[in-house]
Amino acid sequence: MASDKKLIIGNWKMNLGVHESSLFLHRLANEVKIHRNVDVIIAPTMLALQTLSLQVNYKQFKLAAQNFYWRDHGAYTGEVSATNLRGIVQYGLVGHSERRHVFNESDKDTRAKVQAAIRNGIRPILCVGETTNERTAGETRDVIHDQLIGGLANVTSEELSQVVIAYEPVWAIGTGKNAVPSDVTEAVVTIRHQLKHLYGAKAANEVQVLYGGSVTADSAADYLALNEIDGLLVGGASLDEKAFSTIIEKAHRSINSGKK
Ligand code: PGA
Repeated sequence: MASDKKLIIGNWKMNLGVHESSLFLHRLANEVKIHRNVDVIIAPTMLALQTLSLQVNYKQFKLAAQNFYWRDHGAYTGEVSATNLRGIVQYGLVGHSERRHVFNESDKDTRAKVQAAIRNGIRPILCVGETTNERTAGETRDVIHDQLIGGLANVTSEELSQVVIAYEPVWAIGTGKNAVPSDVTEAVVTIRHQLKHLYGAKAANEVQVLYGGSVTADSAADYLALNEIDGLLVGGASLDEKAFSTIIEKAHRSINSGKK
């Protein structure tokens, strides 16, 4: 655990248009209590970011881009850069399994995006995690190792404090199959061990590490009780204001209960 603050991220993926996003944020704002020990981040469709950036109460929510291109400007038709997103988002997802597996993004792309985010004052949330086949073949540690090295290769120890890591086993994303807490602990221990190897113990301990994959209002507390994790990356359940606000309350309680 990096700090006694928790981070809860809602990834709306390719759901909710501009108008719907705005209405949903409004409903969420009525539901979600502000806690000093919980940072809540919303990642809506790119199209809604600007509208939400004008609407949002930054004490209650911060914003994240689900994706961006790694170059800052130029002839890249259809792309949006981290430079374009400056001042609109505070965070950016990088290397989400849907980017890696549906859009074939490589570790090289991921690395360039981590750099682009940092260069533009946006905190990258680097997602790592193994597929079912890799898990069955006993390759989980190797995959985590390669994705961390691949994503962080150009990041200095000073810059590391800007980075958030999310452990998201691919087989648990959007499938309803939860990773059991002991598996999450093992993966996060591997992540911190690797960070320690790369950056030393102090820097490694300060990095916020999250879990993501089919988290629900019911399962959230089991993960939040783990000493190793600093929060959750939530997909499906973040589209339900009651479920999402329950997860946020559980994050708050997990710290107050003295476990954290
Ligand atoms: P899920 O998505 O909670 O719907 O499994 C998680 C994610 O994609 O980050």
